[in-house]
Amino acid sequence: MSHEITACIFDLDGVIVDTAKYHYLAWRRLAEELGFEFTQEQNERLKGVSRMRSLEILMEIGGIQLSQEEHQEAAARKNQWYVQYIDEMDRSEILPGAEEFLEELRAAGVPFALGSASKNAMRILRRIELDQAFSAVIDGTKVSKAKPDPEVFLMAAGEMGIPAENCAVFEDAEAGIEAGLRGGMYTVGVGDPGVLHKAHRVIPGLHAISWSDLRSG
Ligand code: G6P
Ligand code: MG
Repeated sequence: MSHEITACIFDLDGVIVDTAKYHYLAWRRLAEELGFEFTQEQNERLKGVSRMRSLEILMEIGGIQLSQEEHQEAAARKNQWYVQYIDEMDRSEILPGAEEFLEELRAAGVPFALGSASKNAMRILRRIELDQAFSAVIDGTKVSKAKPDPEVFLMAAGEMGIPAENCAVFEDAEAGIEAGLRGGMYTVGVGDPGVLHKAHRVIPGLHAISWSDLRSG
């Protein structure tokens, strides 16, 4: 199916800003405290996935069983470390080409939204001074179903008033590409083609795309 693209939806972590490394560092610290190793490769499974689901996957990797209460406590501990990292962030951590591409879309009158699983999305957008840039911001505080469920992207499309098939989704996570595909959207993988092979197209970063290039497929 071909897609006429009239709007864009961006994931945040790993697409607009380099927070994926902070999520990894915080989860790795939790794993270390619980006595097991957590590799970058295993971390791919956590990308794009909600906080509680990420914790479940991590505990599965470590072969650890936690009570409901311990789960809540571990997730809160991870988030505390993560927030310490992001509170030190500044605009220099916006990924190469991201701001330029958003500016190009804005100048061309193309609406664009944020579609992130993160409950910290607004905090991050404020840190990098992009909190006013998006037509709509759908984040982890607004959705009930985690990627690969398409809810977050469908809500973003709905808020922009654009049919799903006319939206291009930019994602660095396998679960996010899956969510975009299930939502009937055009998907652009941002990162490793080996991981993101299901996407319609894969680019190394937003520096490698322009609006004219995207709209012509
Ligand atoms: C993003 C990241 C995930 C993270 C999720 C929840 O999608 O890719 O790694 O677990 O957001 O983030 P939060 O800031 O709410 O813990
Ligand atoms: Mg991401």
